[in-house]
Amino acid sequence: VLALPKGRIVAEVLPLLARAGIVPEAAFGTNATRRLWFDTADPGLKLIRVRSFDVATFVAFGAAHLGIVGSDVLAEFAYSELYAPLDLRVGRCRMVVAELAEMRETDDPAGWSHIRIATKYPNLTRAYFAARGVQAECIKLNGSIELAPRLGLCRRIVDLVDTGATLKANDLVEVEQIAAVTSRLIVNRAAMKTRSAETHRWIDRLAEAVDAAR
Ligand code: PRP
Repeated sequence: VLALPKGRIVAEVLPLLARAGIVPEAAFGTNATRRLWFDTADPGLKLIRVRSFDVATFVAFGAAHLGIVGSDVLAEFAYSELYAPLDLRVGRCRMVVAELAEMRETDDPAGWSHIRIATKYPNLTRAYFAARGVQAECIKLNGSIELAPRLGLCRRIVDLVDTGATLKANDLVEVEQIAAVTSRLIVNRAAMKTRSAETHRWIDRLAEAVDAAR
């Protein structure tokens, strides 16, 4: 079972899967069914579609054997049950700290000691700031993070930036980059042992597909 994330990453992942010989049934990616698992042309491989954070959870608990997930999600959870052998080189974006543009001119990040931050990534954010002696009080949101500063929930956010359009449309500017992000193949560590031949075969095929795309 291969867990795939929903959202804009799908369009980048499907061509990569095709190069690896993974062809989902026609209903995949359409709204024609409420079914959440799908067959592929290979009887030995099923696909499931879940939210990106849940890809890591399904694979960590062995409910799915393989998954595709952003390095942002991996860093937030740090599940020891996950092995991430392959950078798929798609889903490229950046994780940044941002704040209201009007505040940026006078604000000095070197002077921060205690800050409040809205984010999907509270663990990662706390650890990032703790490493430089800043206490980050995190407010966990699941989406639309960019609304938070304008409405006074907090003054700063940590979120992903791709084109920068969402920051700009919400009067936010980047203060600093926390990490570069790409999608990774993840594998359940137990499945690596109990289904060794199959998991290694998929890792190899996806690695070849990534190389072919370079
Ligand atoms: C992501 C991210 C930003 C946006 C960045 O959200 O959280 O909000 O994309 O992209 P941009 O720089 O190209 O504007 P997504 O659209 O995946 O939805 P979400 O708010 O549900 O996380």
